[in-house]
Amino acid sequence: MIKVGLVGFGKAGQAVAQVLQDDPRYELCWIARRSASAPVQISPEVSVPVAALATPDDWNAWLDAHPVDALVDFSNPESLHLYGEAMRARRLMLVSAISAYSPADLDYAHGLAADTRVLCSPNITVGINFLIMAARLLRKIAPFADVEIVEQHFRDKPEVSGTARKIAQSINVDEDRITSLRLGGIVGHHEVIFGFPYQTVRLIHNSIERRAFGTGAAFALAELQKCENGFYTFDDLMMRMVRHELLTEQA
Ligand SMILES: NC(=O)c1ccc[n+]([C@@H]2O[C@H](COP(=O)([O-])OP(=O)(O)OC[C@H]3O[C@@H](n4cnc5c(N)ncnc54)[C@H](OP(=O)(O)O)[C@@H]3O)[C@@H](O)[C@H]2O)c1
Repeated sequence: MIKVGLVGFGKAGQAVAQVLQDDPRYELCWIARRSASAPVQISPEVSVPVAALATPDDWNAWLDAHPVDALVDFSNPESLHLYGEAMRARRLMLVSAISAYSPADLDYAHGLAADTRVLCSPNITVGINFLIMAARLLRKIAPFADVEIVEQHFRDKPEVSGTARKIAQSINVDEDRITSLRLGGIVGHHEVIFGFPYQTVRLIHNSIERRAFGTGAAFALAELQKCENGFYTFDDLMMRMVRHELLTEQA
């Protein structure tokens, strides 16, 4: 069982904690957040200690007293610099979901990856990453097909979906091919439509709830464990798995 420490217990972290807690491959040992609080009751039987770790020294002392195999980060970009050296010294795996790393933060994460396994993914759902992988493949197979991207979100979301822009970038399609619809309470709908002369292919992903982030983090931990030290994206882990599956099928 992989022992995990979760960094961040906000909207996403709370959903991720539930998924990790329910997954028999993992033991959620503790949660770090900005403010200290009483242990968190994740389920009727399990409560998890919560620590406020404000300095690198706090992290060293905490990890000595509460050893884990991996950190899962759903907090903010600064946390990486607080736990980074403590994590490096102990060769812990890192699954970071932080969406807003600066180029300097990412450089630092790459530096940590010289000594341990690091995954950074600004989009950590299995479904969206699979959609992007499938869309990239189809784009290679049929570069002549027309492509449109449709994203639908709740009425008050002001900006174009970052995920839709990422999809456009990944398949080399101009961002003006994105159509945004704002309707009621839709959590998140992304659709890539390939128009062939005699057929249409639609790749659709619907977000249902935040626990999908936890499923993604659990997938990443399991796959990262099989990797050498280094820096990985979610695509890297998925492609590695697909290659392995295809080779196993051929053998
Ligand atoms: N990659 C993805 O697909 C994905 C999906 C969802 C979210 N995210 C990312 O996950 C992060 C959190 O999102 P959210 O919506 O859950 O935000 P949120 O509700 O504001 O929660 C942030 C959490 O981080 C904690 N925190 C802040 N600084 C910390 C520190 N130095 N050490 C430990 N914990 C710290 C906060 O502690 P307090 O509770 O004590 O204030 C809070 O629990 C964001 O960076 C977001 O971009 C990524």
